[in-house]
Amino acid sequence: MSIGIITIDGPAGAGKSTVARQLAVLLSREFNAAFEYVDTGSMYRAATLHAIRNNADWNNNEQITSLTNSAKIIIQNGETFLNEENVTNIVRSPEITQHTKFIADNINVRKIMVELQRTIAENLTRQNIGVVTEGRDQGTLVFPNANCKFFLTASPEERAKRRCSELRLRGITENNINFDKILNEINQRDNQDKKREFGSLKKADDAIEIITDNAEINDILELLKQLIITRLKG
Ligand code: DC
Repeated sequence: MSIGIITIDGPAGAGKSTVARQLAVLLSREFNAAFEYVDTGSMYRAATLHAIRNNADWNNNEQITSLTNSAKIIIQNGETFLNEENVTNIVRSPEITQHTKFIADNINVRKIMVELQRTIAENLTRQNIGVVTEGRDQGTLVFPNANCKFFLTASPEERAKRRCSELRLRGITENNINFDKILNEINQRDNQDKKREFGSLKKADDAIEIITDNAEINDILELLKQLIITRLKG
């Protein structure tokens, strides 16, 4: 049995990160082998942080490309490092979320990221470490020959509802949570992700679609685990 590459793509807020992170742990136990979780969104976010810190001009594609080339982005134990600094939490800030489109829409930046993601996966698989990689284009463009592909999705309304609960949990008061505004932002991000010329958000033909509306995380994990066992062991 070979430990392989598992891709999880889907829109923002579908629960990919939570599922991918926990799935890597479950698979490590199941296969008695190491599995690394690769959050490719955080790589785009780290490149955005690097550009902001270097006062990037968002209209200057060449400068953005060269800044991305000079950024040292590493994924280790599910954490993201930019120039040796652990930026896993910093890159989740609203400021970075707002600006990632300038990075993610740049074709040359995307090519750098695709190469980097393939190098990361090659290094891991060479050491017999399995890879659970999560993003928008992992099963379509980056790893077309992945061993197992999933497309995790949920309706925009369900994703907006989850986002509202998340904000409430973080102590943000009801008055400051506007469901319609959040739903509108989700629809905008979906459009941005789908209309991209290179690496756009879409389900790979051979990906299994999992709709997570009304589903419990543990049930989703169990389903994915069983599908992967059948594929990898079968
Ligand atoms: O999944 P996320 O919200 O952390 O992603 C951050 C941004 O990066 C988002 O604008 C989509 C983009 N992205 C991408 O274009 N391709 C990927 N493989 C992952 C993320």
